[in-house]
Amino acid sequence: MLKGRDIIDPEDLTKEDVEGLLLLAEDMIQRPKKYADVCKGKLLGSLFFEPSTRTRLSFESAMLRLGGEIIGFTDPDSTSVKKGESLPDTIKTVASYTDLIVMRHPKEGAPRYASDSTDIPIINAGDGGHQHPTQTLTDLLTIKQAKGEIKNFTIGLCGDLKFGRTVHSLIKAICKYEGIKFVLISPEELQIPEFIKEQILDKSKSEYKEVERLEQVIGDLDILYMTRVQKERFFNEADYVRLKDSYILDMDKLKDAKEDLTILHPLPRVNEISVEVDSDPRAWYFRQMRFGMYIRMALIASILGDEEC
Ligand code: NCD
Repeated sequence: MLKGRDIIDPEDLTKEDVEGLLLLAEDMIQRPKKYADVCKGKLLGSLFFEPSTRTRLSFESAMLRLGGEIIGFTDPDSTSVKKGESLPDTIKTVASYTDLIVMRHPKEGAPRYASDSTDIPIINAGDGGHQHPTQTLTDLLTIKQAKGEIKNFTIGLCGDLKFGRTVHSLIKAICKYEGIKFVLISPEELQIPEFIKEQILDKSKSEYKEVERLEQVIGDLDILYMTRVQKERFFNEADYVRLKDSYILDMDKLKDAKEDLTILHPLPRVNEISVEVDSDPRAWYFRQMRFGMYIRMALIASILGDEEC
């Protein structure tokens, strides 16, 4: 059903689409061999105009584990972009060699713009401080694995809610589920943008509150989604330095947390989770990054139409 579709924004997937992808990813976790050839003969274009570790490598390993192959770049300066080539021309070029393009770009809206210049599917792997729909799929798969289902929980989103695209996409997707309460934890300067409040939280009649201190709410949370302060989106270094260590989750803070709290982080972490937390069973962020590969396998197979779901 996802065959040939672009995935630019979480809204490009219905709740049913997401449900199908989660089930497929779970089957891929159980029976990876069954899917080892489903993308044989297919080529993925992996275009990273911005740094990435997990997103790029999980997409690429996903394609390889499905039997497909990859071309692409991680440094646009090594391509004709450096000579002044436009984004549509770069996209047309890669589209003439490949079956599917995954792209990350610093400019908000670039993947949508790119999708106008080709008929092959485009997946947004993060556009500036805007959206990151496949991280959201990763987060949803992790929540399902941790909690058994996606409903009736209180989720705290903590850190840079202004520039954090993973937070914007996660709120967009998760507000469709039943009984979700949001606690938005950030310094005043890094609060969630108004458009997310008005067009998503208010429109979906979601229950939410905004607070500045993590200690104040940690005991109420079922899920805590930590994020890094997005250095590269700041206009001014001094502001970044002032805000970067606003939150540091450590064992002391976790004393007040529930026994079955699920701690997520899209990673990379800078300082916001102490290393001592990594061995606590409530820390799910390293399992989360592995789920990212399986959900991307499910997504690639579905878009290329080689797997029924
Ligand atoms: C995130 C991103 O790129 O938005 N990382 C990721 O994709 N796993 C989060 C971040 O960079 O802070």
